[in-house]
This record gives sequence, structure tokens and C-alpha cells, in this order.
Amino acid sequence: MFSYRHAFHAGNHADVLKHTVLLATLDYLKQKDVALTLIDTHAGNGIYRLDGDFAQTSNESASGIQQLIATATNAQEALDPTVARYLDMVRQFNDELSSRTKRLVYPGSPALLQHSMRSQDQLHLFELQPADMRALQGNMEQGPYANHTHVWHEESFKGSLRFLPPPSRRGLVLCDPSYELKTDYQQVSQWLSEALRKFATGTYLIWYPVIPRPEAHELPRKLKAIARQAGRGWLHTTLAIKSGGKPGVQLPGEKVERTGMVASGMVVINPPYILREQLQKALPELVRALGQDHLAAHTLESAEAP
Ligand SMILES: C[S@@+](CC[C@H](N)C(=O)[O-])C[C@H]1O[C@@H](n2cnc3c(N)ncnc32)[C@H](O)[C@@H]1O
Repeated sequence: MFSYRHAFHAGNHADVLKHTVLLATLDYLKQKDVALTLIDTHAGNGIYRLDGDFAQTSNESASGIQQLIATATNAQEALDPTVARYLDMVRQFNDELSSRTKRLVYPGSPALLQHSMRSQDQLHLFELQPADMRALQGNMEQGPYANHTHVWHEESFKGSLRFLPPPSRRGLVLCDPSYELKTDYQQVSQWLSEALRKFATGTYLIWYPVIPRPEAHELPRKLKAIARQAGRGWLHTTLAIKSGGKPGVQLPGEKVERTGMVASGMVVINPPYILREQLQKALPELVRALGQDHLAAHTLESAEAP
């Protein structure tokens, strides 16, 4: 059984990047009235209390959403619209949103999708961890469009493929594994190849950790190659909030400083054409807000369909 619980990490810098890109992409797709099928292959709980035991243990949101709120509250200038849109969604789950807010509720990707969908859309959420699945079910039953929201307690690399292609041939799929298993990296690549074979025009958002592990390093390159082979365009972005570790030579007996994950990335296949321009403006703002040292940075690259 998995030991990963997203409640320990909710609202961290990776969620800020992932959810900002997710909302910007979905907003664009909603410009057409045609029904959308929305799929979250790795859903988690859906909603998190950042003052709860899990979140307090790691306090990762302090360098993510809480830091962004503090910066936004004190900002003299208007916020970038893509960042503001994300913060507005977080605000919808809280009575007030300020740097003094102690009891922050954080919407995970299922809640963001459910609160952004329309009456014509369908939402499919996959979660394997039993306790998280039950929490997800409870949270989604209380949200809007509960009748259009389907929670599946099953393995999603296989399960999600049965919804492709969607009846309207319009869909967004978020693939956000915990990468707890080394095999997840390989599975993501295989899943994307198969998903594109079944539904080449779908918009796919894949999150991955930027960590010193060969599989993680290789993954974006593989995903871009799969998109290229399928004749699809892609966008790739990363956000790092600080340097990955103490530079220099480690002295004998010196304790290695563990920094945790300090950067993550998103690969978007068939991205909206305006996403690059939106992120070009939003990412420097996220770096300014969340950056902790001079190595805080973003990257952004994209390619149109060949
Ligand atoms: C990173 S968390 C998801 C966070 C969520 N997408 C969000 O942004 O709020 C990954 C979740 O996937 C679940 N999981 C892991 N492997 C899975 C699989 N093969 N199928 C379905 N769920 C899985 C884990 O239990 C965990 O809750």
C-alpha cells in the first residue's frame, strides 16, 4: 500500500505551479460551449485543511500558497491575472484570504475542477488510497455538479483510458502521480502514448518533481518526444523556489543538508495557444513571491505541432 498522502504536501510550491497552470488551461477550454470531459488521474482528498495535523507536520504550504497570499496581500501593484485567477479560486474556499488567515482551506485539483466545471461537463476522479478516496467522495458530494462528478477507486493509468476519447471529443486530463514508485515514471510515458493514440486532440497536463533522480530528469524529454511523434504541440515549464542543496565540497563527517523537493515541472500536451504568453507573465511573479534564494527561477519552452 502507498504511504504517500497529499495532505502532507497540500498547498506547497508544486501545487501552486500545477494549479495555476490547470486553471489557466481549463479557462481557455471553457471558451467553447461544447461539453468537456475532465479527468484527474491521481486525485487525492480534493480539499485540505492547512491547519490540520497532516499539513502542520510538514508545513509545506508556508513556502507555497501561504507565502503567495502574504506577498499578494502586501503587493502595491495589481497581480498578474493568471496568478490572481488562481488566488480567487482559493479565496472561494475561505471566508477571508489574508496573511493573517490561520484556518486556511486549500482546494486540491478535484475541487478546482469541480468548482470550475459547467452543467454540460463531466468530471472523473481516480484515487487508489482508501482513506483519501473516502475523503474525496465526501468532499465532492458537497460540491457543485455532484451528479456530474464520478469518483473511481481504481488504478488510473489503466482506468482513465476507458474515458478516451470523450463523446464530445473535448477533454482535459491532469496526470499527477506521487512518483512514490519508481515505475510511475515509465507508466506516465506509456499512459501518455496510449492516451494520445486514443484521443490525439485532448489536452494533457502532466506534473513531475525536479529531483536528482535519472527517471525524473528523463521524463520531460520523453513526454516531449511522445508528443512530437504523435504530431502534437507541447509546453514545458518548471518552477524552482531555491537551490537544491548546499553547494561545494562535503567535508568528512559533515551532515548532508536535506532540502526536500525545491522544484517541479509541468508538461502540457496540446496546450492552449495563449498559455505560453500567460505563463511568461505569471511565472516571474511566482518566482518573486516564492523564491528563497538567487537560484529561484522558472523555465518555459514550447513547440507547436510539427
Ligand atoms: C500528488 S497526489 C494528487 C494531488 C492532486 N492531484 C491535487 O493536485 O490536489 C497523488 C495521489 O494519487 C494517488 N495514487 C497513486 N497511484 C495511483 C494510481 N495508480 N491510481 C490512482 N491513484 C493513485 C495517491 O494515493 C495520491 O493521493
